[in-house]
Amino acid sequence: MQSDQESDPKPHLEALGAYPGGKYVHGSFKVSPGSLPPRGQGIYKTCMKAAVVDRYGPPEVVQIREVPTPGAGAGRVLIRVVRATVTSGDARVRGFNLPRPIFWLPGRLALGVLRPRQKVLGTELSGIVEQVGAGVTRFREGDRVFAYAAFGKSGGAHAEFIVMDEDAAIEPVPAGFSMEEAACIGFGGTTALYYLEKLGKIKAGQRVMVVGASGAVGLASVSIAGHMGAQVTGVCSSKNAALVRQAGAVRVIDYTEEDCTDPAVTGGAFDLVFDVVGAHKAGAYKRVVDKGGLCLACVMGFDEIVRMIAGRLLGGPRVKAGVALESPEVLGRLRELAEAGGYRPVVDRVYPFAEIVEAYRYVDTWRKRGSVVLSVSDDQIG
Ligand SMILES: NC(=O)c1ccc[n+]([C@@H]2O[C@H](COP(=O)([O-])OP(=O)(O)OC[C@H]3O[C@@H](n4cnc5c(N)ncnc54)[C@H](OP(=O)(O)O)[C@@H]3O)[C@@H](O)[C@H]2O)c1
Repeated sequence: MQSDQESDPKPHLEALGAYPGGKYVHGSFKVSPGSLPPRGQGIYKTCMKAAVVDRYGPPEVVQIREVPTPGAGAGRVLIRVVRATVTSGDARVRGFNLPRPIFWLPGRLALGVLRPRQKVLGTELSGIVEQVGAGVTRFREGDRVFAYAAFGKSGGAHAEFIVMDEDAAIEPVPAGFSMEEAACIGFGGTTALYYLEKLGKIKAGQRVMVVGASGAVGLASVSIAGHMGAQVTGVCSSKNAALVRQAGAVRVIDYTEEDCTDPAVTGGAFDLVFDVVGAHKAGAYKRVVDKGGLCLACVMGFDEIVRMIAGRLLGGPRVKAGVALESPEVLGRLRELAEAGGYRPVVDRVYPFAEIVEAYRYVDTWRKRGSVVLSVSDDQIG
């Protein structure tokens, strides 16, 4: 005997944000006139594939499953995900791998005490607007967009569809950008702007050192700082030196051979040192941060927290750190920067969506160069 929910899944789908006023017909949801019209003939697929994370753990905890497709709803847009990325942030959430043990408790409270609060991860995407809800004016069906969907605010991007508020961080794909490149703009770019501009107040002509210059955040920081007129030194291994120079570094230091905290190696001090990967404690940079300069720590630990509070007493560099959050304004700025030639993310590898576990395994090596992309659906409108 069928349960009520099996014979009529509508209440279940509606609870998950599926279309109101529709009728379930042979695995599809038929939408009545006046409710949100789907593309095509009024029949909409109700299930989509999503990469679900039920518990913290290794890449193998990620499972692709069929889940109900969300509906746009008033003021929201349904985006068909074409490309998404697996970021270092996704890997940290999935594995509950926080950079320092002191963040264990706040991390669990923010991400979910026993399991991830948001089961579908993924923050960056490019895609095609599939459906707009009532009152949406910024987007139309068929628009090609990229977006940065913050953890806990929208569904995750590791799915065939995502619903976001129309005024969330969504922008048109920059002219001349592939869907792969567009998908990689948000994470590295937002972090770079937050640290360099908001915390670092970067200015043209300043000497800036980016430590960990070959990852997603590092390459974004090198390009954006260079575009803003800074003289950038990138710290990376020799295999990534050409990439970092191409992004805009005027000088490269190979961290496997030389110590970037030694002024004899760096050739003097910097106005800003941005340690993206937590290569050294902030205090270690005291000889290469100019008087009045600043050390920015993307990976925060005890040393950085103490120095942020009592830096002057300890006699080291001034230190700033924080959490870069998604913002519609920042994504808009990133699109402008991209269109002005100031930022073009680097795509390292592209994995089919079905191979998301492999993609996570690679991201977990912490050796990626730029971004790792998932090919979720076709880059075609229709
Ligand atoms: N505070 C925030 O709001 C915020 C926001 C975003 C990201 N983050 C954090 O920022 C960090 C970087 O993120 P990401 O996405 O850029 O990571 P990523 O792409 O995974 O970084 C990998 C790159 O870092 C390089 N690297 C590793 N160790 C290094 C070292 N000791 N010196 C120089 N380069 C080194 C690797 O090059 P090799 O193979 O040559 O070693 C690789 O190319 C992560 O820990 C992430 O959690 C913080």
